[in-house]
Amino acid sequence: MKTIKYYIIAGLFALSMASCGNSNAKNNENNNSKNLKEMKFEKVALPYATDALEPVISKTTIELHYGKHHQAYIDNLNKLIVGTEFENADLETIVKKSDGAIFNNAGQALNHNIYFTSFKANGGGEPQGKLGEAIVAQYGSFDKFKEEFNAAGATVFGSGWVWLAKDASGKLFIEKEPNAGNPITKGLTPILGFDVWEHAYYLDYQNRRADHLKEVWKIIDWEVVSSRY
Ligand SMILES: [Fe+2]
Repeated sequence: MKTIKYYIIAGLFALSMASCGNSNAKNNENNNSKNLKEMKFEKVALPYATDALEPVISKTTIELHYGKHHQAYIDNLNKLIVGTEFENADLETIVKKSDGAIFNNAGQALNHNIYFTSFKANGGGEPQGKLGEAIVAQYGSFDKFKEEFNAAGATVFGSGWVWLAKDASGKLFIEKEPNAGNPITKGLTPILGFDVWEHAYYLDYQNRRADHLKEVWKIIDWEVVSSRY
């Protein structure tokens, strides 16, 4: 009987230690997320509901792309810069000056901040004002510009971006960038970027990247995008 009692007490003690361990693990988890929150970079707030861009970009894609992929770039960046020369730098400076893993995550953090703020429900149409005029002056028409931009996006080999960018004189450039590339590394200002990583379109368009690119124009918030010119 004494032996049974001993086993019951030992079992209860082990259970209580395990539960204490779990609670410590949970505390550590909370501390980690709190630390991350206190760190510098956060992803840009999504200026629309996750289903607002349907059917061009589905709610599921936004939830994964913005909620998981973009968050991971931000979290990785915040961890990677600790103790480096970039710890107190702004995001654009990090993209311009870093390489390797820090560049990859900083580039993607910046790229997705620009990308997710370029859209709105029932967007589309054509840019007005100076950007609209510059596009027509340089490419002949907005449709010709779109054609050239789409062709560039469709032919980025593997993962990457296609960008509309400008130089200091206002001249426009369509730039194909691999992986986390952003035209600011070439001294240009990014105005509009289409993400051609498969995570941006595969759930909705599978391998039909060109079809996705044609549709994205329907959700552009030209007021926001034109303000970058
Ligand atoms: Fe992406």
